[in-house]
Order: sequence, then structure tokens, then C-alpha cells
Amino acid sequence: MKDVISQYRIDKEPYYRAVSDEIAVYDAAYSVRMPMMLKGPTGCGKTRFIEYMAWKLQKPLITVACNEDMTASDLVGRFLLDANGTRWQDGPLTIAARFGAICYLDEVVEARQDTTVVIHPLTDNRRVLPLEKTGELVSAHPDFQLVISYNPGYQSVMKDLKQSTKQRFGALDFKYPEPAIEEEIVSHETGVPREIAGKLVSIAKMARNLKGHGLDEGISTRMLIYAGNLIANNVEAKRACRVALAAPITDDPDMRDALDAAVTTFFG
Ligand SMILES: Nc1ncnc2c1ncn2[C@@H]1O[C@H](COP(=O)(O)OP(=O)(O)OP(=O)(O)O)[C@@H](O)[C@H]1O
Ligand SMILES: [Mg+2]
Repeated sequence: MKDVISQYRIDKEPYYRAVSDEIAVYDAAYSVRMPMMLKGPTGCGKTRFIEYMAWKLQKPLITVACNEDMTASDLVGRFLLDANGTRWQDGPLTIAARFGAICYLDEVVEARQDTTVVIHPLTDNRRVLPLEKTGELVSAHPDFQLVISYNPGYQSVMKDLKQSTKQRFGALDFKYPEPAIEEEIVSHETGVPREIAGKLVSIAKMARNLKGHGLDEGISTRMLIYAGNLIANNVEAKRACRVALAAPITDDPDMRDALDAAVTTFFG
């Protein structure tokens, strides 16, 4: 059974550039096993951060991408049929609770509320997971911690976490990093010189001002890394920016012109 969890260990240190006091705060939160919520726009470093923290704390990390078709069974487990009859198979949340992993529920708000409530008894003093179908009450391993991600921009009134869920978590706000730090990240991740990375970050800074004025979301750090990767692989800078920064986020001709203009400012 030891094998079950070893595949979730992170052996190599993930590159993570701290942007604030998030590492120290998370360390403190983990030491009391406080459930945590990582909030912030897409592509700003939430997943990288939790991978880094799992590595630093030497805990396995089990990530579940949530979606609206997900049922409680997808988290908790289900009976499977095999030659010998039926066999119970733990879901990812149950494995994490049993073996003491950090369980990262990505975009948890996508899951239906009846799915979300299965985390309630795990995220208060009880720290238990009742498996309704088997009657087992799993007590969480002392190392177990639950972490969820949440993009505050995308929620509608219909699709939001209940207060009774939200109030079980501490929350860390993630934003796009400060320009100098973002430049460092883009350069590190892609191998492009700092000067090029700096230009990409400046373009993003201009484009981020268009959020709410024609763009639904800013250009993320992830997109800048895509652009840098194309440039590092000999795609001409303006073309790289069109492919990686402008075309994915808008089809509006005016917005594309505005983004092209920003690109021209820095890449001539
Ligand atoms: N602080 C950081 N240190 C190192 N790399 C970073 C940092 N922030 C962002 N990155 C880079 O940006 C990429 C995107 O970040 P990540 O996948 O963590 O975003 P996310 O916030 O989880 O997005 P989503 O909400 O879409 O899942 C990472 O693969 C990494 O290369
Ligand atoms: Mg992520």
C-alpha cells in the first residue's frame, strides 16, 4: 500500500520565486493543518506554489481538477466490479486523508455544492471523512491537509462556494508578480535574456489595464512564458506575442489592434 502514495511525492525542488510572505504564512498554516484557499487569476503561480510547498514540507501532493460533472464518488471513491465481485476503490481525497498527503482541489467552485460538502467534516476539528457507501469513518492522517484554488473573477452568484465552505479555510491572495519578479520568472522559465523578459512583462502590464475594458482577463504569467518559449525557439518576437498573448484571449479586432500596438511599443 505504500506505493499508492509514493507516486505523489515531489522529489525535485520546483522553481518557485516568492512574491511576498506566502511561504512563511503557508508554513505556519500547515503546522496547524489549517485548510487553505489559494485565490487568484489563472496562470499566476498557484499550482507552482503548492507544488513547491509540498516539496518543502516533504509531503505527497494529490491534485484533483474539479468540474461540474464531478460527483462525490469521484473524490471519495466507489465500488468497482471485478472477477471476484465488488471491490472498493478509494478516491483521491480518501487516499490523501488516509496516507497523509496534501490534497489540492483545483477550481473547486466548478464542482456542485453537494460534492463540495464532503470536505466539511475533513476541514473542521473532526478531521474525518465518512465513506457513506462502505460505512467506514476515515480519520485523517496527521499530515493530511486540504487546499483549494479559487479564481475570484469567474464566480457568479449561482456558482460560488457557500459561506460554510469558505469559512473553513484561510486564504492567500495571488496576483501577477511585481514587474521585476515577473521578469525574473519569465527569464528563468524560458531562458530568454532579462531584457526580452522585461519587454514581455511591460506588454502584459499595458494589456492588464484593458481588463474590464474589452478583455475579460489580463495576460497571465503563464502566457508570458509561452511567448518567451516561442522567442527562445526562434519565433520572431512580434509573431510570438500575437500567437501567445493576443490571439488566445480575444477575437475582437479593436482589442487585437490595441495589443499589437503595445507589442510594437516594445518590439518595434
Ligand atoms: N512565483 C512564481 N515562481 C515561479 N514560477 C511561477 C511563479 N508564478 C508563475 N510561475 C510560472 O507561471 C506558470 C503558471 O503558473 P501556475 O500553473 O502555477 O498558475 P495557476 O495560478 O495555477 O493557474 P490556473 O488557475 O490556471 O491553474 C508556472 O508554470 C510557472 O512557470
Ligand atoms: Mg493551477
